[in-house]
Amino acid sequence: MAMVLVRSGNRKAPSLFADIDLEPVPLSHGVQEAIQAMAGCGIEERGAIFTKRPVVDFTLDLSGFTANRDLCSFSVLEPSFGAGDFLFPIVERLIASRQAFGRSIEDLACSLRAVELHEETFHTTRAALGELLRSSGISEKDASRVLTTWLQQGDFLLTHWGQLKFDFVIGNPPYVRQERIAEVLLAEYRRRYATLYDRADLYVPFIERCLSLLNDQGQLAFICADRWMKNRYGGPLRQMIAEGFHLKTHVEMCHSEAFHTNVTAYPAITVIEKAPAGPTRVADGKGLTVRELQSLSRDLTSKALGKSSNVREIIAVTNGAQPWILDATDQLAVVRRLERDFPTLEEAGCKVGIGVATGADGVFIGRFDDLDVEDDRKLPLAMTKDIRDGTVQWRGLGVINPFADDGSLVDLRDYPRLARYLTRHKDVIANRHVATKAPKNWYRTIDRISPELTCQPKLLIPDIKGTANVVFEDGQLYPHHNLYYITSDEWDLRALQAVLMSGIAFRFVEAYTTKMRGGFLRFQAQYLRRIRIPRWKDVSRVLRKRLIAAAEVGNYDATNQLVFDLYSLSESERASVGRKN
Ligand SMILES: C[S@@+](CC[C@H](N)C(=O)[O-])C[C@H]1O[C@@H](n2cnc3c(N)ncnc32)[C@H](O)[C@@H]1O
Repeated sequence: MAMVLVRSGNRKAPSLFADIDLEPVPLSHGVQEAIQAMAGCGIEERGAIFTKRPVVDFTLDLSGFTANRDLCSFSVLEPSFGAGDFLFPIVERLIASRQAFGRSIEDLACSLRAVELHEETFHTTRAALGELLRSSGISEKDASRVLTTWLQQGDFLLTHWGQLKFDFVIGNPPYVRQERIAEVLLAEYRRRYATLYDRADLYVPFIERCLSLLNDQGQLAFICADRWMKNRYGGPLRQMIAEGFHLKTHVEMCHSEAFHTNVTAYPAITVIEKAPAGPTRVADGKGLTVRELQSLSRDLTSKALGKSSNVREIIAVTNGAQPWILDATDQLAVVRRLERDFPTLEEAGCKVGIGVATGADGVFIGRFDDLDVEDDRKLPLAMTKDIRDGTVQWRGLGVINPFADDGSLVDLRDYPRLARYLTRHKDVIANRHVATKAPKNWYRTIDRISPELTCQPKLLIPDIKGTANVVFEDGQLYPHHNLYYITSDEWDLRALQAVLMSGIAFRFVEAYTTKMRGGFLRFQAQYLRRIRIPRWKDVSRVLRKRLIAAAEVGNYDATNQLVFDLYSLSESERASVGRKN
């Protein structure tokens, strides 16, 4: 088999990647024999799996290879065309566009290059493509000329492309495990492709080569097994993409529906652009009808995402050789969307604070009735243990309050019982850091106590909890320092409790905090403040009532549904927020 060298009909400026272009080196006899063997072997050995038409159209639409554009002014490559599942739709679009834009036969010939290794498949597809050209009014002679320019039979990975670069590379590369490739050929591939690493499948160097053949702003749109996006052998390819490309689109496809044959691999359609990195649009194409695929491609390629879109936009998916996290991040995408569309808790009229730290709980905290100080110098205290079961079960503890209502420390001469009590424990409390810093204030608690908070209705949230535990306290207790509190002049607190008990609050906190061992999250004030909620005035009367009722009966499953409506979450946003991982 002779390696056909593509004639260099190069109409594009040399790209930055020109330096990695490989010189045409004569292939050893062993390599040639191995290629020859592959060119004649069965479907499985050469990784042939064919793609269904709606999926092909969807992929072409995603890449922007659409007939309403002047496609003959671009160049497109199909690196392993097989029976032509991609090639025919590509050519149909080229012909339609050529007619619409009045392009010459030369323009048409310069627009496409396509390669196939398997000899028999090559010839059958070439003949069928000739039919298509002739049926569209192209003469026998022109059709033959065009086909000779377009198609070549040989090993794409060893083909010399000179200075030729492409605006589109589209297709479905071969899936061939290394065990199936002759040693001598594998060694040649390894010599040329840095991404053929570890047990990498043949589609990995295929992607590398195709990326290196892109013009600036060129698009690679492949349907391909998604394993390399996360596993070890995909590392170098991920690195290459992170360093010079923009992972624009990722669509998960259910295996049996994308291809004509059942395959065990999970395919995904990815569009990668030769451009600086940017956000990735992610969607699930599983089981979608043709019409749904069309609408999804419009969504994925739209300038701005609609509010109810099923498409998620994720930033920084590519990061060196790191695995791409595209699934769990859908939850992050919901958070990001809500951040865009809603005000923070505090902007929506809520106040977030933390309870009092005393620095000497053994002295400042005791049984409320037994604390031997004046009645107005102690406050009933809410601690984590008091709200363990999701309602307030006050265990009867209190905290000593050395602060007057104006925020200053009380004069101990006005409070003889308090003075006696504190003096009795002076050794302990005067040694605290806060006391040594300002010895005159030796009896202050670390945090100032604002007694009016006691009688304000509030929500209490413990610092560490696997899931959001938000408890309504009707205005009788002062919070201890392991508890955060939320008060509001605008929001009904019961309704707010319902919102915060839903998966949403959990997702916000999760997005900002690192998980602690055992999967626990820290519900700190700084993270709580970042939660977004609509303004109370924007919540419908019906929804208000339902939220309040759901919180009162503690029906948090119902709450999730209501909160989804409150934020107008799309179906996929609902699914990801509701998920446990
Ligand atoms: C997964 S099929 C895809 C065919 C077509 N792109 C489609 O979607 O219908 C892969 C094709 O790559 C071909 N192939 C395998 N190794 C190749 C190589 N080194 N160079 C070019 N084509 C190759 C196979 O013969 C097969 O037709």
